[in-house]
Amino acid sequence: MENIRFGIIGTGNIARRFAYGLTHVSGATLAAVWNRNRAKANAFAIEFGSTAAVYDSVEALLADEHVDAVYIATPHTGHAPLAAAALTAGKHVLCEKPAAISLDELDPVLALARTSGKLFMEAMKPPFYPLYRELRAQLARDPIGEIRFVRAGFANPNVPTGHAVLDPLLAGGGLLDIGIYSAFLAVDWLGAAKDVQTLGRLGASGVDTFASMQSQHEHGIAQIYCGLDTSGSGEALIGGAAGHVVIAEKWWNPSRATVFYRDGRKIDIDMPIEGSGLNYETAHFCELIRHGKTESPILPHAHSRAMIQIIDAARAGLGLRFPFEAQD
Ligand SMILES: NC(=O)c1ccc[n+]([C@@H]2O[C@H](COP(=O)([O-])OP(=O)(O)OC[C@H]3O[C@@H](n4cnc5c(N)ncnc54)[C@H](OP(=O)(O)O)[C@@H]3O)[C@@H](O)[C@H]2O)c1
Repeated sequence: MENIRFGIIGTGNIARRFAYGLTHVSGATLAAVWNRNRAKANAFAIEFGSTAAVYDSVEALLADEHVDAVYIATPHTGHAPLAAAALTAGKHVLCEKPAAISLDELDPVLALARTSGKLFMEAMKPPFYPLYRELRAQLARDPIGEIRFVRAGFANPNVPTGHAVLDPLLAGGGLLDIGIYSAFLAVDWLGAAKDVQTLGRLGASGVDTFASMQSQHEHGIAQIYCGLDTSGSGEALIGGAAGHVVIAEKWWNPSRATVFYRDGRKIDIDMPIEGSGLNYETAHFCELIRHGKTESPILPHAHSRAMIQIIDAARAGLGLRFPFEAQD
């Protein structure tokens, strides 16, 4: 099996979870690390793989011929420029969500991915979890009819003051940080959105702290919400003509779901995770590289476009523009 050697760009919370997950992926190793703070990068490399090279610049990491792929885990504003730089340097890219802060920013990255012949995938984890794969299989074997409704949300008020997610200069806000998960669920089951209506509020720093969206999709309607100033249920509901599914909290790290059929049957699915959970998307990403694929069939570029289109529309609905964006 071809070993895939990863460079990690940004060594914060999620990068730790990624690196731990990597230890549960066969044929994948940590080869290089960059963080803006060299001491943190050193400590990270020692913790997760003492042979990993530590670089002082992203450029130096991208020039390392022993790096096949990068995992981008910086704040949101870094994703698209770093992905573009990595693709240009000939690396495959697994990019944390949101893949870009807007469709305008995402499209040039996807165009570059196509011309580079390298794999580009947004690190949107839920569809790779065993529970989600088994749920898909269950509904293929024993359908609940056409899926017409998705209701999901993610709200967590425990954001520390000063965190990047509250910083408008880093494209913070609930929509881009966690709203994108529910946008994924809606897109995955209902297709791209044709219309998005949004209510919400901005917090003291100027980013959205709560948003509630209703969206009309190709195949049905979604109700989704995200919040940084409110607690919310972590369940998701997927409704069809002949039954519905409840994915238990936290649906974005799914391990339990119940399928309720209209004829009275109830099927429980329980699939605990191994590793950190991020190992499933990483294993899929590595398999795609080994098979010469440039796009994931589970999380295709079209999904990333449709997800960020929902967030774009919701931001427009709230009148949320970041200071570095052109103001209306
Ligand atoms: N897939 C998931 O489950 C998941 C979960 C959480 C977050 N995320 C995503 O992952 C990304 C990182 O989130 P996180 O929770 O890991 O954040 P975090 O803990 O704050 O880590 C961010 C990393 O980026 C670095 N950084 C911060 N500001 C920077 C800047 N201006 N320029 C360059 N580097 C900078 C930080 O450096 P220092 O170490 O020096 O502070 C840190 O290494 C976000 O895009 C978020 O949406 C994904």
